[in-house]
Amino acid sequence: MAAPPKSRIVAIYPGSFDPITNGHLDLISRGSKLADHLIVAVLENRRKQSLFSVDERVEMLREVVKPFANVEVGCFHGLLVDYVAERGANFIIRGIRAISDYEYELQIAHMNRRLSPGVETVFLMAAEAYSFVSSQLVKEVASLGGNVSEFVPPLIEEHLKNRVSKRN
Ligand code: PNS
Repeated sequence: MAAPPKSRIVAIYPGSFDPITNGHLDLISRGSKLADHLIVAVLENRRKQSLFSVDERVEMLREVVKPFANVEVGCFHGLLVDYVAERGANFIIRGIRAISDYEYELQIAHMNRRLSPGVETVFLMAAEAYSFVSSQLVKEVASLGGNVSEFVPPLIEEHLKNRVSKRN
């Protein structure tokens, strides 16, 4: 008997990505192996002050994800579950670095499931090497003149240097 047709896995990896870190990139790499198609989605949040504009973040992400053939970069505003439906996706991928992330992520995942019961949130544990890396900390270190080459791709390090030198 023929095996039943395998359904296509389309996953969305949402976030602010201000800017993308090596921790995010590790998740994209691993997520791209789990999904047939992975959409990295930048949240357009006009209420949140960001270092890079949405267009800049999308452009930087597109450069960095070029090696992954099944990864696309997009952006969204409003509810994540609406974007998930619009893109015909069935999974949301989020990373967890520590227990402190878990509580926040659990709330979001429950809310998203209540809003859209068919969409599953899949959590990936951050790689140990990046378990303390966040966009926020990377921005702080860069703005104080610290070396962030270990935490972000070279292209992002360059953009960070240019942006913080203009601000300081
Ligand atoms: O990288 P971040 O900033 O932690 O990402 C948070 C994100 C984008 C996943 C979350 O803020 C989000 O999904 N926002 C969209 C608005 C929404 O759907 N809210 C209801 C679920 S809590």
